[in-house]
Amino acid sequence: MTFKIFFLLYCVIVLANLISSTPIWDQNVRAYEPKTNVFDLTIKKVGLAPDGFSRILSTINGQYPGPTIEVNKGDRVIINVHNELGEPTAIHSHGIFQRGTPWFDGAIGQTQCGIPDNYIFTYDYTVSDQFGTYWYHSHATTQYVDGIVGALIIHDPDDPYITEYDEEIIVMLTDYHHVESQILLESFFTPASEGEEVFPDNGLINGKNNFNCSQAPPGSTCVDNAGLAKFVFIPKKSYRLRIINTSAFSSFFFSIDKHEMEVIEVEGSYTKRNKIHRLPINVAQRYSVIVTANQPVDNYVMRSEFQKTCMPDEASKLPVITAIVHYDGAPEDSAPKDAPWKDFLEECIDLDHKTLQPLYEEKVPEATKEMELVIAFHNDSLGIVKAFLNESTYVPNIYSPSLLKAFAGQIYDLPPARNAFIFDNFGEVVDISFINTDEGEHPFHIHGHQFWVLGTGNGTIVDKDALNKVNPIKRDTSTIPAKGWMVFRFVADNPGVFGIHCHMICYRSISLLSIFIFLINF
Ligand code: C2O
Repeated sequence: MTFKIFFLLYCVIVLANLISSTPIWDQNVRAYEPKTNVFDLTIKKVGLAPDGFSRILSTINGQYPGPTIEVNKGDRVIINVHNELGEPTAIHSHGIFQRGTPWFDGAIGQTQCGIPDNYIFTYDYTVSDQFGTYWYHSHATTQYVDGIVGALIIHDPDDPYITEYDEEIIVMLTDYHHVESQILLESFFTPASEGEEVFPDNGLINGKNNFNCSQAPPGSTCVDNAGLAKFVFIPKKSYRLRIINTSAFSSFFFSIDKHEMEVIEVEGSYTKRNKIHRLPINVAQRYSVIVTANQPVDNYVMRSEFQKTCMPDEASKLPVITAIVHYDGAPEDSAPKDAPWKDFLEECIDLDHKTLQPLYEEKVPEATKEMELVIAFHNDSLGIVKAFLNESTYVPNIYSPSLLKAFAGQIYDLPPARNAFIFDNFGEVVDISFINTDEGEHPFHIHGHQFWVLGTGNGTIVDKDALNKVNPIKRDTSTIPAKGWMVFRFVADNPGVFGIHCHMICYRSISLLSIFIFLINF
């Protein structure tokens, strides 16, 4: 009798499994069925005037910033890039692991050749275990500075904060140049520049701002009051702001007058709620914050302030970049009163990592390998200031990407200019101690991985006793302070060729401040 009941039950379970095709014990855990999402991006030069000053921008589908790529965790992402730029390009999905598809990382000279002009190239990857705020951008020369950027958002069907906000808003911050980046780069790479940084003409929020046209060079086409970005808040509602710094060079303090913000995500890692007023955000970093429309119905200033301590002196004339937070029901055209938060924050360093605690505690594995990388800037043999990592300047081979060499078994013979570090031990736990001898800070990004930030400090001696191995934050872009150090740890468990580089296109360090990790044993 009992056997019959068990047998019947067994049949029911098997049948239910067959019908649902998902194992029955998984159904509550995974309610979401992953989808395939196809995006068509046409890259093309177009005349635009985001801040009223007309110039040629490199646009995606005719717009700047480019369209948002929005998918769910687990989804497959297909991006058809139609290159009509007139020169080779490649598109990198910043922060995406590319597990199993390292050839779609989009870095010229590392994982692919440039997509030729008038050619369609398809990226095809799955974001199986990722969610959060990312972006995509050209990873060829300085192209992203001319406009090839867009937000990339991976929604999380299991988002622990989902009940805490009503809507999402993407806020893209950037510095902005009126001259095409290739021209700036060429003038930079001359002995005459003496390594003096190129600094921006303006800054934008979601591709908008005003510019004072009396400062535009004679002969340019420029209109004043091009208009600010405007965000509509419904009173009492809460918003998840996804803030992305797509700058070439600048770090900002982001804030909204009279509104507190709670940090809940850093670059794909949920954090414990952390209340702040001003958010430091460096190049290529992303944060999610929750803001509630809990102030009297009115207009408020959203501000993105350049951190000028780490910019050339002439940058002092740059304005605070603003947008409008407009409460539904407030007068449409009245300019908001200035009411900036006054909290003092040290410039040119990250939001204190001790205040950024991962929501889910994770045991950090012990390091199995340690390496030290010294950042320095000095003249090369032609008298041009270049960036060096352990005294080596990176030179890509754009016609023969390193990944191809890895497949051909030739990576042990790469020349020193490829700055290659080979990890042929799957799962190696690597500590990198960065020692920055430069007077500028450097936001370092890792491809294909996240790293734990174990510690940072001033001076060139790493304080190993000060490292935090208990619940440190895990992210993909972190600022190594000027004349300072940082230790980060990552697990080399993603076969491919993945760069670690300074994300500033600060003309002197573009791509030069790079190393590449090779995990072989494909
Ligand atoms: Cu935003 Cu090499 O990347």
